[in-house]
Amino acid sequence: LEVVRTIADLRSRVAGWRKHGARIGLVPTMGALHAGHASLIKCSAARADRTIVSIFVNPTQFSPQEDFATYPRDEDHDLDIIEREGGDLVFAPEILEVYREGHRTKVEVQGLGQTLEGEFRPHFFIGVATVVAKLLIQALPDVAIFGEKDYQQLCVIRQMAMDLDIPVEIVGAATIREQDGLAMSSRNRYLTAEERAIAPAIFDAISRAASRIAGGANPATAAAEAVGEVLSAGFQRVDYVAARDAETLREPVRGRPMRVLAAAWLGKARLIDNVAV
Ligand code: PAF
Repeated sequence: LEVVRTIADLRSRVAGWRKHGARIGLVPTMGALHAGHASLIKCSAARADRTIVSIFVNPTQFSPQEDFATYPRDEDHDLDIIEREGGDLVFAPEILEVYREGHRTKVEVQGLGQTLEGEFRPHFFIGVATVVAKLLIQALPDVAIFGEKDYQQLCVIRQMAMDLDIPVEIVGAATIREQDGLAMSSRNRYLTAEERAIAPAIFDAISRAASRIAGGANPATAAAEAVGEVLSAGFQRVDYVAARDAETLREPVRGRPMRVLAAAWLGKARLIDNVAV
């Protein structure tokens, strides 16, 4: 498994593969890999001849109050997982390689990037869309894999790639969960043992809301009930629970695919999750 840290080295490896007609997959990550990421790498390895995994804790998607400085970093552990799951190349640039002195450009996906997460973390999708656009242009993969755990992120990236005519297939991979239903996330390690026992309540609540909606309940009422359930379970604050159109993330319309999405605070962790109706 080779690790490259410059865009020039990344491009030269990709050019070598392309000469031999290889199909290339990219799995963008911020490191601190877990079984969820392992499934993304596997998904890429099944769809492409060569898989690049990027590890870059992207500063522009964190606000000054957020956990950029303390975000977990463990490259040796990440490399073990990438090698085991069939990755071929790791792109792990320094911040200045990605955002050179004088970098001025931001990518913003209007509408999709401004609702839900965008309302609570207005910087977030601008940072994500900017860095993912850069990674896609740097690596020029045929396919790029993102987890459905960050469902809105997946929607934003799909729209961004389409709007910017980046010739890549964006694939969403199913959320990987712990046995009790908690979606795997690098931030789960912020939970104390007591909080960890409460954490699956967010998945339980949105799953119940999704079943009620599927059974004919009003989506807004079902979402409001889920807020109550998450708070009664012991979460301190709910940023949102919302049933939305699965494609546009606008208000849902009966007969079209719907998604229930949620974000809530438990101790130091802000957990997000979503399920299909
Ligand atoms: O989902 C993540 O880990 C990040 O938001 C991503 C897509 C790697 C961009 O920094």
